[in-house]
Amino acid sequence: MRMYDIIKKKRDGGELSKEEIAFFIRGVTDGSIPDYQIAALLMAIYYRGMNVRETCDLTYAVRDSGERLDFSAVKGIRADKHSTGGVGDKTSLVVAPIVASLGVKVAKMSGRGLGHTGGTVDKLEAITGFRTTLSEEEFLAQVNETGLAIVGQSKEFAPADKKLYALRDVTATVDSMPLIASSIMGKKLAADDNVIVLDVKTGSGSFMKSAERSRELARLMVDIGKRAGKKMVALITNMDIPLGYAIGNSLEVAEAVETLRGRGPADLTEVCLALASRMLSLSGKGSAEECRLLAERAISDGSALEKLKQCVRAQGGDVSLIEDPSAFPKAKCSRTVLCPADGYIQRVDTEAYGVSSLLLGAGRNTAEDGIDYSAGILLRKKTGDAVKEGEPLAVLYAADETLFRAAEEKLLSATVIGREKPEKAPLIYGAVE
Ligand code: URA
Repeated sequence: MRMYDIIKKKRDGGELSKEEIAFFIRGVTDGSIPDYQIAALLMAIYYRGMNVRETCDLTYAVRDSGERLDFSAVKGIRADKHSTGGVGDKTSLVVAPIVASLGVKVAKMSGRGLGHTGGTVDKLEAITGFRTTLSEEEFLAQVNETGLAIVGQSKEFAPADKKLYALRDVTATVDSMPLIASSIMGKKLAADDNVIVLDVKTGSGSFMKSAERSRELARLMVDIGKRAGKKMVALITNMDIPLGYAIGNSLEVAEAVETLRGRGPADLTEVCLALASRMLSLSGKGSAEECRLLAERAISDGSALEKLKQCVRAQGGDVSLIEDPSAFPKAKCSRTVLCPADGYIQRVDTEAYGVSSLLLGAGRNTAEDGIDYSAGILLRKKTGDAVKEGEPLAVLYAADETLFRAAEEKLLSATVIGREKPEKAPLIYGAVE
């Protein structure tokens, strides 16, 4: 088999066989296929697409390119959730403890921030001492004992995706349905969960800008997971507006804790309850309505917050920060951004809000960059709110005053203020089962 022939076939719109896809992924993993040929095939896939069978074969080859986790030592049903990436998306920090507090095991492998989007591992590392690397034995023992463990992905996990993602990032081929689906599901399927709930974001802050494309991606990922024997559902949720008011690592942990106390923002609380009830009901805890009530009770009786504390304690984190998030180290500098006009916030470019927090130090420009955990943005006004010229739009936090100018410009140019009150967009566009 020759890589040249595989590239030519896809370039001309042909359908790749399972063997050709396996040959490609093997060569990506062992380094025998040069980057220029990998990149050429990625571009051919970008233009020509893949059918469902090809996308499934690609996903399973990515899954099998490295170690697969064996959760058979974990007693009970294992459920996971995955977000396609958003701004202010701290749902995992709320949903995982709710679900674990109700007896479903959550053995979570999370990612770091990607581009303008944040990552759960970075947020957890804002908690002093929290270890996001555990040995497989420690990880599984903690899941059995406390019902919840959250770690980063090890290098041995779906290594083909690491290589492919890095090349997609520099060849403008990230935004491809089969490549996104196989990247996300290849990693998810390498873990050994029974239930997977996907949060497919749609809108200006997500990788998929339209609800139609998001629904298509959701359908594809749900079908891939079901064919692999998983119980699956995807919710399509709104990312035309940041979720909650906090963007940035320790700010987001604090907001997640407030949500677990029952005092979180309405939009964040609603998305978390919807995701948690889906995870619970697919795990056999009752009907959607019953599971919604269970999830609400786990917040109101404090058991979900207690579960987060147990997890933080077990992974070496400073629990006093969860008990009192105001004790998180504060950014050295802050600046209030003022509304430039009277009216209503019509819409915002949520991706630009993410980039603004990145400019403040809350994210990375390259994989090697460090993160300032206290940097970020606390929004004071969001889409649909009435505003008056000169009142606070947001407060920016950074280690250095010089970082404010570019971040403020980005935020202001991403905020459209007009006279009419905009129509309220749905928070959850629907479910794909
Ligand atoms: N997240 C992933 O893991 N992969 C993608 O391709 C896009 C988002």
